[in-house]
Amino acid sequence: MPAKIQIQKQREILLFLIKILSFENFFLFLDLVYYRCSCFILNTRLIMNKDLRKVVILLAHPNMKESQANKALIDAVSDIEGVAVFNLYDQQGASFDVDEWSKIISDASALIYQFPFHWMAAPSLLKKWQDEVFTFLSKTPAVAGKPLTVVTTTGSEYEAYRSGGRNRFTVDELLRPYQVSAIHSGMSWQTPVVVYGMGTADAGKNIAEGANLYKQRVEMLIGSSNAGNNW
Ligand SMILES: Cc1cc2nc3c(=O)[nH]c(=O)nc-3n(C[C@H](O)[C@H](O)[C@H](O)COP(=O)(O)O)c2cc1C
Repeated sequence: MPAKIQIQKQREILLFLIKILSFENFFLFLDLVYYRCSCFILNTRLIMNKDLRKVVILLAHPNMKESQANKALIDAVSDIEGVAVFNLYDQQGASFDVDEWSKIISDASALIYQFPFHWMAAPSLLKKWQDEVFTFLSKTPAVAGKPLTVVTTTGSEYEAYRSGGRNRFTVDELLRPYQVSAIHSGMSWQTPVVVYGMGTADAGKNIAEGANLYKQRVEMLIGSSNAGNNW
């Protein structure tokens, strides 16, 4: 092929390439690459999240250093893969960071409130957390549809918590505010785990049984066990 025609051909090819990569097309191409990458990342995240089950435990104990019951209970579950424990009393004083908590709770597949019974309810920081954080998460996908379990320890024995007993009401009755708040927020209320009699001679036995039950319940929530789910 004569050199003149060869140069002409090369020029045509070059012009064609420049045309293809003209600014408009180039940006369209970048857009397409960006879109494809975003879809890939999003799909990967969705697939990962579907398989990833996390249990977030909000521990509300004002004095974990002196705790026997709640310390033993949290030790029984904190090493299970997928469990994240937050002691609300580690952040005393400051207001709760709603954005930070919103991420933590959105990431969880189940929520647990663990606390010692103080004046027939949870210690006050759990209420503060509800007022400052839960208020904004209620009825949102961060909590809706997720199981909520209360795990609590009492000083009084089981027999005291009943009609006619020393404390008049059952623990289930006393936990109604948590139950109805869960229902109100679209959460799925779970049977509470109650470890009675921390002020009695049965404390050690009850803690051991409670720790076992707690572990089973957390494993069920994580999805690694079906124990107790065979009614
Ligand atoms: C301020 C305070 C209030 C308490 N109120 C109750 C109560 O209302 N009902 C009860 O059964 N025990 C009550 N107790 C006993 C605690 O529930 C018990 O000491 C706790 O569950 C033990 O857990 P721990 O070893 O993790 O601290 C109270 C204890 C304190 C310090």
